[in-house]
Amino acid sequence: MKSLNQLMNLDGRRALVTGGAGHIGLAISESLIELGATIPILDSNAAACQERAEKLNKIRANFGIALPCDLEDESATRGAVVRAIHQMGGLDVLIHCAAYVGTTQAPGWAVPFDDQTVGAWDVAFQVNLTSAFVMVKEARKALSDSGHGSVILFGSTYGLVGPVMSLYEDTGMENAAGYAASKGG
Ligand SMILES: NC(=O)c1ccc[n+]([C@@H]2O[C@H](COP(=O)([O-])OP(=O)(O)OC[C@H]3O[C@@H](n4cnc5c(N)ncnc54)[C@H](O)[C@@H]3O)[C@@H](O)[C@H]2O)c1
Repeated sequence: MKSLNQLMNLDGRRALVTGGAGHIGLAISESLIELGATIPILDSNAAACQERAEKLNKIRANFGIALPCDLEDESATRGAVVRAIHQMGGLDVLIHCAAYVGTTQAPGWAVPFDDQTVGAWDVAFQVNLTSAFVMVKEARKALSDSGHGSVILFGSTYGLVGPVMSLYEDTGMENAAGYAASKGG
């Protein structure tokens, strides 16, 4: 029987984490690096992406890679996945954590329902949902070649049930309809 150490060991594994500059993406990256994996963190916030990669490299030198990319852009997204695979010589895990969330500052997004726009809805779908489809298509061969490829996509409770908005009183947060729909997808 395998020991817990063997089951958790990610030595030599390569995991691409989107939204790696965000709260949960960073926590994921730190955990996976500690277990031995190399992590390219993909994020549209280029400065935060670089800063987080440097932070990860303090845990294990050269295991964190900054991969600035805007998932709104399909061709840039395909290019970033290809670059990551090329740089690491393959891919074992794809984790899609980046998202338009409740605090995302974008016109027509986290605003009262009457002010939410189709433009913001479309962009959120591109980032939260369509980019996952694009990245899996681009990474499929490398994941398959690894012999143990994993894909982890982030949903949300709010993709299943509506929020109780009284919980968010005084936070300034609004419930973007596109969040629930894209996370449910
Ligand atoms: N925090 C929560 O309570 C919670 C609850 C349920 C689900 N989730 C899900 O967990 C994931 C992470 O949430 P979080 O709280 O860490 O969010 P976060 O806002 O801290 O991180 C999201 C990251 O995605 C990046 N991003 C946004 N648009 C992008 C784009 N176009 N291209 C590339 N990167 C982009 C942002 O720059 C940010 O670094 C999300 O998918 C969210 O839906 C979070």
